[in-house]
Amino acid sequence: MKAIAIAGYVLLGLMALPVPAISQAMDLPPDAAVFPDGPNVKTVTQNCLACHSADMVLDQPLLPRATWTAEITKMRNVYKAPIGDADAALIVDYLAATHAPP
Ligand code: HEC
Repeated sequence: MKAIAIAGYVLLGLMALPVPAISQAMDLPPDAAVFPDGPNVKTVTQNCLACHSADMVLDQPLLPRATWTAEITKMRNVYKAPIGDADAALIVDYLAATHAPP
């Protein structure tokens, strides 16, 4: 009986301890809904937000121009994004200027 009582007190004591606050801070990329400013940003905004958010693009690692060219080609050929040749070139310029390794 005594043992149970002691166990009860220990349990009560533990429950009285302050619960450490769980940190909510995490290092995530900014939740961007728009493309940051850069050359041809208007063309990018007009062509790249119909099917997914800007995050789909901005969350990618910094990619070289050739990879961005292939990515835009994929959007056009595989996902049927209605992007003309002229706009595609402008979009690659934007991505190479703002989201490529130095
Ligand atoms: C016609 C619809 C459509 C348009 C317009 C579009 N995309 Fe996509 N995009 C997709 C789909 C579908 C996916 C795959 C989504 C998934 O995996 O959940 C995707 C995925 C992506 C990805 C992730 C990597 C990958 O290959 O899956 C990137 C980067 C991307 N798109 C860039 C762009 C850019 C830049 C533009 C503007 C030039 C664009 N997209 C316009 C449909 C589109």
